[in-house]
Amino acid sequence: MCGIVAYLGHREACPIILKGLHRLEYRGYDSAGVALLNGDLNVYKKKGKVSDLEAYIAEKDTHATVGMGHTRWATHGEPNDENAHPHYSTSERIAIIHNGIIENYAALKKHLQQQGHVFHSDTDTEVFVNLIEEIQKQNSCSLEEAVRLALHEVVGAYAIVVLSKDAPNQLIAARKGSPMVIGIGDGEFFIASDATPIIEYTNEVVYVNDYEIVMIRDGQLNIRTKEDVSQTPYIQKLELELDSIEKGGYPHFMLKEIFEQPRSILDSMRGRLELEASHLNMGGIRAYEQKFVNAQRIIIVACGTSWHAGLVAEYLIEDLARIPVEVEYASEFRYRNPIITERDIVIAISQSGETADTLAAIELAKSKGATIFGICNVVGSSIARATDAGAYTHAGPEIGVASTKAFTAQVTVLTLLAMIMGQKRGTLTDTKLRELMVELDTIPAKVTKALELDTEIRAIAEIFKDASNFLYLGRGYNFPVALEGALKLKEISYIHAEGYPAAEMKHGPIALIDENMPMVVIATRDSSYEKVVSNIQEVKARKGRIIAVVSEGDKVIPAMAEFVIEVPHTSEVLMPLVSVIPLQLLSYHIAVLRGCNVDQPRNLAKSVTVE
Ligand code: M6R
Repeated sequence: MCGIVAYLGHREACPIILKGLHRLEYRGYDSAGVALLNGDLNVYKKKGKVSDLEAYIAEKDTHATVGMGHTRWATHGEPNDENAHPHYSTSERIAIIHNGIIENYAALKKHLQQQGHVFHSDTDTEVFVNLIEEIQKQNSCSLEEAVRLALHEVVGAYAIVVLSKDAPNQLIAARKGSPMVIGIGDGEFFIASDATPIIEYTNEVVYVNDYEIVMIRDGQLNIRTKEDVSQTPYIQKLELELDSIEKGGYPHFMLKEIFEQPRSILDSMRGRLELEASHLNMGGIRAYEQKFVNAQRIIIVACGTSWHAGLVAEYLIEDLARIPVEVEYASEFRYRNPIITERDIVIAISQSGETADTLAAIELAKSKGATIFGICNVVGSSIARATDAGAYTHAGPEIGVASTKAFTAQVTVLTLLAMIMGQKRGTLTDTKLRELMVELDTIPAKVTKALELDTEIRAIAEIFKDASNFLYLGRGYNFPVALEGALKLKEISYIHAEGYPAAEMKHGPIALIDENMPMVVIATRDSSYEKVVSNIQEVKARKGRIIAVVSEGDKVIPAMAEFVIEVPHTSEVLMPLVSVIPLQLLSYHIAVLRGCNVDQPRNLAKSVTVE
């Protein structure tokens, strides 16, 4: 999971590449580099952020109209200058950038060393470029042919771009399992991991498929398969807006994305919730409606925050549509020989649409005949393309590594799906359905109201910013919200945090409570409210410090909790869309107050395209 970008055209390549790398930095940010082709093939690379690379090359000759760049999230080898991409081949006549993992690199490396190739890094990528060089030497073939043959020898995932000193006006790229998009401009071409480095130059793009090799030369784009069969590029229009990938005055993408939620939730309902006509619509399930109606079981596969959205969906679908649901970590599901039948529907949830474990879980379920429904944010992503049908969340680009607006958009789409299924299966009465539709329509306004708590939450963050541990408790629909609150806190502030179903406390975690343990309890007015109040009493009796998220107007909990955050009341079924907002803000402010890099937390990257 790294970012790659390349350019060939009539402009200076370096500034375009660097700007593109900044946009892709969310994918990895432990080192960065560029290769520029201008008679010579020069590689400049540095440990650290793209800004460190910029400083490093400020005095270098970067004049070139062909080049490529990479921002890295380390897999093989620690983050340092040597392991940064691009990598030269031994002769330094070929260079490569790579996003992915080559699993058989050790065997290949041994063989290449025996052939005299010399390695300077610990990476699998350097093996790849030397393999290409060796094949070209052995077969006296073109670079394109050498790349094609090399692809038959590597096992793993890749999106690569290759430059050669001997082919001065040419870019070769290939993909398997890692995303790649080509931008087609006027006499110029762009290659990138996603469309963000491309949008200000052109809106014509081609999404490269697995096992395709891209050749850009003499103003022409050619795509062939690994088996050397020519493909017709399918040119699509990009709908991304430049504004949507910039911070728009916010100090961090995460904060911008938190505040975008009234809008992104609305966008995820647009055309799907037609309140006046009292109609629900989801194009993606139309062809599979009967399958959904007759499904014997729904299995949800996802990772991280998307898995939490899946847990909310378990409550929703079982409650409203009465279909049994299992929610699985994709990484476990794919390796545990699960029982799947043709009457199962597998719902894969993923913001990026590129998560390797989720993709593998889909392939497994497909091979057993299940129908696969995808819920993705990134249009044209690998998961969106691997599923039988699906619905986009339309949340807009999410760049902060900590997922926020993607979660609420996923939950909105899953709510609509559960409502449609409940309606079709006759498990939801017309009255209940109408009530939910009316209430769902009010959610963007209620989220706006919850966002007004920002200053209040910042003040609470000041008090707890130095805590070493946090517990998050919730029940029912708010249990997944507790898990999500804890994940948000740990990933960006590095404070240890755990989410629990409130009633589980007494089975062990209660032993952790003392006067230093902050406890966030989501205690909105719902069917388990009284029980949660009792759980709060138990914590209070042991001197735990309670921050309670309650429904507006609550008269009971303020007398018990040290801090109370009042959110607008809504139906129990829809509450996660509102109750998660203060938890996102709390983790954001704590991380900022601790001086953490909110948008680029340590050791993480936005999409996990490796196992
Ligand atoms: O792109 P995906 O939704 O498939 O990503 C899944 C997780 O990697 C992701 O949600 C991760 O947990 C986030 N950093 C959470 O904020």
